[in-house]
Amino acid sequence: MSVPDQVLSNYDLEKRGDTSDEWIRTRTGIQERRIAGESTTTSTLGTQAALNALRDAGISPQAVDVIVCATTSGDYVWPSTACLIQQGIGASHICAFDVAAACSGFVYALDLGAQYIESGRAETVLVVGADTLTKQLNWEDRSTCVLFGDGAAAVMLRPCNPDEGLLATSLGADGGGAELIWVPAGGTKTPISQCVLDKKLNTIQMRGPEVYKFAVKVMGEVAIDALSRCGLTGADVDLLVPHQANIRIIQSAAERMGLCPDRVFVNVERYGNTSAASVPIALSEAVEAGRIQRGDIVVLVGFGAGLTWGANVIRWNRDESGHTKAESTTKDLE
Ligand code: ACO
Repeated sequence: MSVPDQVLSNYDLEKRGDTSDEWIRTRTGIQERRIAGESTTTSTLGTQAALNALRDAGISPQAVDVIVCATTSGDYVWPSTACLIQQGIGASHICAFDVAAACSGFVYALDLGAQYIESGRAETVLVVGADTLTKQLNWEDRSTCVLFGDGAAAVMLRPCNPDEGLLATSLGADGGGAELIWVPAGGTKTPISQCVLDKKLNTIQMRGPEVYKFAVKVMGEVAIDALSRCGLTGADVDLLVPHQANIRIIQSAAERMGLCPDRVFVNVERYGNTSAASVPIALSEAVEAGRIQRGDIVVLVGFGAGLTWGANVIRWNRDESGHTKAESTTKDLE
């Protein structure tokens, strides 16, 4: 994983006025988030995360066959962030492209990356989730600006036995909810103009309570559906790694799946919602904290703009005994 050094706490936001640490903490669980400075972009964070994943896996950049980057805040409208990461890590001139499914992006991209391997089209796939949504925020809109943070994380996929690795995925989308959370302008329908800038239509607009209701319904449902596709239930889950948007949404998903708090990984308090980076950052920290061992059933689950949602069920097949167990700063779900 890779996150910017700069920390923005709820108290910092409180000083800017119109919000409070108490409101943010009790409604969302967030205490602080990381903010990318001017020279830090989605591709620089994604490249660093990719280099970290390559190092951790002991794989050289030249061995990578495909790069899939989940993002909706690329450095440019185009080219893709995956192409910039390909250049940044010094990989060969391989296939590289982005997946846009907002906060569900990593769950979508992981499924796609695994399909390259299952079909025999690739041996080594790099899947990155990277976003810098704080650059798309209206800092005067307290209902959105307190929620998001920046970051990236990456995984390396290799072939494995059929009963290990990615066992099943369930994905969904509903374009009827496109306007519940979106950046209305800056695309080809409404290009940037003075009017767009004056109305701040190039920033994130969200109907929070409606997104909340959607998320609470879909998170548990899609995770249960993905589990049923490989003959498992909530009782089989060793660790749920959910999209870190709001602690209350995570709690309701866990309840729906019948999971006790020690089977749910939470770090929303330190990063806020990092969109496509949220699930892989949580996965990376869970591994570092010794919360995942070989043979464990791990469920990744996300929801986001689109509307989109999805879950992956994984039987972890890497020996994590080399990772330090004790040094965890992550908190369990309470
Ligand atoms: N500080 C203080 N007060 C605030 C703030 C703030 N930062 N933001 C809103 N309020 C006020 C509102 O103005 C409102 O005041 P009013 O009652 O006087 O009108 C009051 O707090 C309650 O506002 P609600 O929006 O009803 O608060 P709610 O309890 O629904 O919580 C929240 C809002 C946290 C945004 C919640 O709706 C939520 O988490 N929704 C899901 C958001 C989400 O997950 N988005 C990410 C999607 S993923 C992606 O693709 C990027």
